[in-house]
Amino acid sequence: MMNTPTLFTSFFFLLFAFITINLPSSLSLSSSNNAELVQYKDGGNISPMDFVYILPAKIGPKGGGITLGNTKNSTCPAAVVLDNCAAMNGLVLGFTMQQDENLNVSTNSPVYIEFLDLPVDCTFDLRWVVVDDFPHPWIGIGSSDDDDDHPSKIIDGDFIIQRYQRGYKIVFCPKSNNNATAGACKSIGIHKDKHGLRNLILTDKDLFPFVFVNAH
Ligand SMILES: *[C@@H]1O[C@H](CO)[C@@H](O)[C@H](O)[C@H]1NC(C)=O
Ligand SMILES: *[C@@H]1O[C@H](CO)[C@@H](O)[C@H](O)[C@H]1NC(C)=O
Ligand SMILES: *[C@@H]1O[C@H](CO)[C@@H](O)[C@H](O)[C@H]1NC(C)=O
Repeated sequence: MMNTPTLFTSFFFLLFAFITINLPSSLSLSSSNNAELVQYKDGGNISPMDFVYILPAKIGPKGGGITLGNTKNSTCPAAVVLDNCAAMNGLVLGFTMQQDENLNVSTNSPVYIEFLDLPVDCTFDLRWVVVDDFPHPWIGIGSSDDDDDHPSKIIDGDFIIQRYQRGYKIVFCPKSNNNATAGACKSIGIHKDKHGLRNLILTDKDLFPFVFVNAH
């Protein structure tokens, strides 16, 4: 009869074998091709729904962390923006891989990005979306049900994290059934609007790398 330590060892061996064999194959199921685990600035993987700040890789002139701002007249902040103050970390975000909510966050695969709390009492869906708008689509939160501000203009597609310079960038890949924007993924960059808000928009200009910082 097996004694307890042997059982334990076998169990962990099997568990380890399971993880080793299954993880790479499940990762490669997605669109990609060289998916790799996203690392915090100070090292370590980002686990699902960790509390995370997204900050410019180089703190300073670009601003602080990612937070929310008000668009137009909205009483609830619905635009994803960069804090104007370099000393601010912004709001806490969480990530989950679309293919499996238990996976650590990796590059080159669709990921849900959401704020984990809202500074004011609003009932928005806190997950990132892309709002189709002139002169450029912008990143916001909320669903078509939420308002006034960006109903029915949400572009169907996926957010993907990619390595960029000494950090990462986030790109958005529209689903192909949206013919106006179908095809190529677009990078997310910053556009400073006339009110001084640093909006996250789809653009290939003025890109700079971001880093992920554990908020604990
Ligand atoms: C996920 O990340 C956590 C934190 O770094 C780590 O402890 C765990 O082993 C990782 N899991 C996998 C499957 O890589
Ligand atoms: C802002 O609100 C006012 C009054 O509710 C309205 O008349 C105006 O059209 C709104 N502006 C925008 C840009 O939504
Ligand atoms: C693209 O979509 C628009 C509106 O959804 C539609 O009016 C137009 O005919 C479509 N164009 C093509 C080439 O499918």
